[in-house]
Amino acid sequence: MPPTAEDPHAARLRLHRLDTADARAAFARDTSDGLSASPKQLFPKYFYDELGSELFDAICLVPEYYLTRAENEILACHAAEIAAAAAAPDDAPLSLLELGSGSATKTRRIIEAVLKRQTSLLYLPVDISVSALETSARALLQSYPALSIEAYASDYDAALAHFGRERGRERGGRLLALFLGSNIGNFDRDGAGQFLHALRAVLRDGDALLLGADLKKDRATLEAAYDDALGVTAAFNLNQLVRLNREFDADFDPRAFRHVAVYHEAAGRVEIYIESRQAQVVSLPKLDLEISFAEGERVHTENSYKYDREGLDALAAHTGFACTHRWTDAAGRFSSNLFVAR
Ligand code: AVJ
Repeated sequence: MPPTAEDPHAARLRLHRLDTADARAAFARDTSDGLSASPKQLFPKYFYDELGSELFDAICLVPEYYLTRAENEILACHAAEIAAAAAAPDDAPLSLLELGSGSATKTRRIIEAVLKRQTSLLYLPVDISVSALETSARALLQSYPALSIEAYASDYDAALAHFGRERGRERGGRLLALFLGSNIGNFDRDGAGQFLHALRAVLRDGDALLLGADLKKDRATLEAAYDDALGVTAAFNLNQLVRLNREFDADFDPRAFRHVAVYHEAAGRVEIYIESRQAQVVSLPKLDLEISFAEGERVHTENSYKYDREGLDALAAHTGFACTHRWTDAAGRFSSNLFVAR
């Protein structure tokens, strides 16, 4: 088959890999440091190997994980308003930059709303998973003939550094940055401020950020969302161990560990752990490491911070934005916030 028949959308897609050389070394270092530390920790960015990205998509479908459905409800109702609010006064074309795009399913609402206002659209997705990026990009190009994609396989830091260097380059029209799905929740409060400040630095005055933030609510709802009855979230969490087995020849038995999710109300975050069911020693030969676990010992793998309205307004104000619009789902569980760079 000629390449054009095999990949009819190739002309509208460019895929950049920003950090492959360092990524493997950083993963080794973070794993080694994290498992040697006390308390032990692993990092959420390493959830997203190919299986991890698929398991996350499955989480978005389980009944307890209300976040995706709530955000989708908001975008379904308000995408036209969002596109209008983000547009330049002279209606110069808008481009979309999305951090942590994943399967980009919810992004379709925004893409469709923007394409009602202009004839073509440039979409710049950033995701740590090359497989998720390629699959989602091809599906989007198939759906939207007026779309072009520049995709970046990268973590957030490398992507923001890259776009910071590009900032001087003339780019017509405005940029709408998307940080959806409560991805901000993986940062602690200071980290969220630093991240938004760095994102602000790649935007120009008048550009905007659509920030999806989950709202504080009762413990039972939150803990169920992060520990669903089918065990999909448990599989997503424990998949980090399976990944370490594959990439570092480790001998973790995932059955010898359990998934734990607890809401720390004072801190406003769901904490996620992998807990050892028994005393055991695990070896990671490629990292030249042997790690002992006590019975009941926990490895912290993720925080998922929850917000309130005042916290979101303060976050915008501290990072060079004004929160000009906020939408919530009918049940008031989740918020989509339009932060305008000022
Ligand atoms: C991808 C960070 C938004 O915190 O809700 C879901 C990740 N972890 N279930 C979240 C996650 C366990 C998710 N984010």
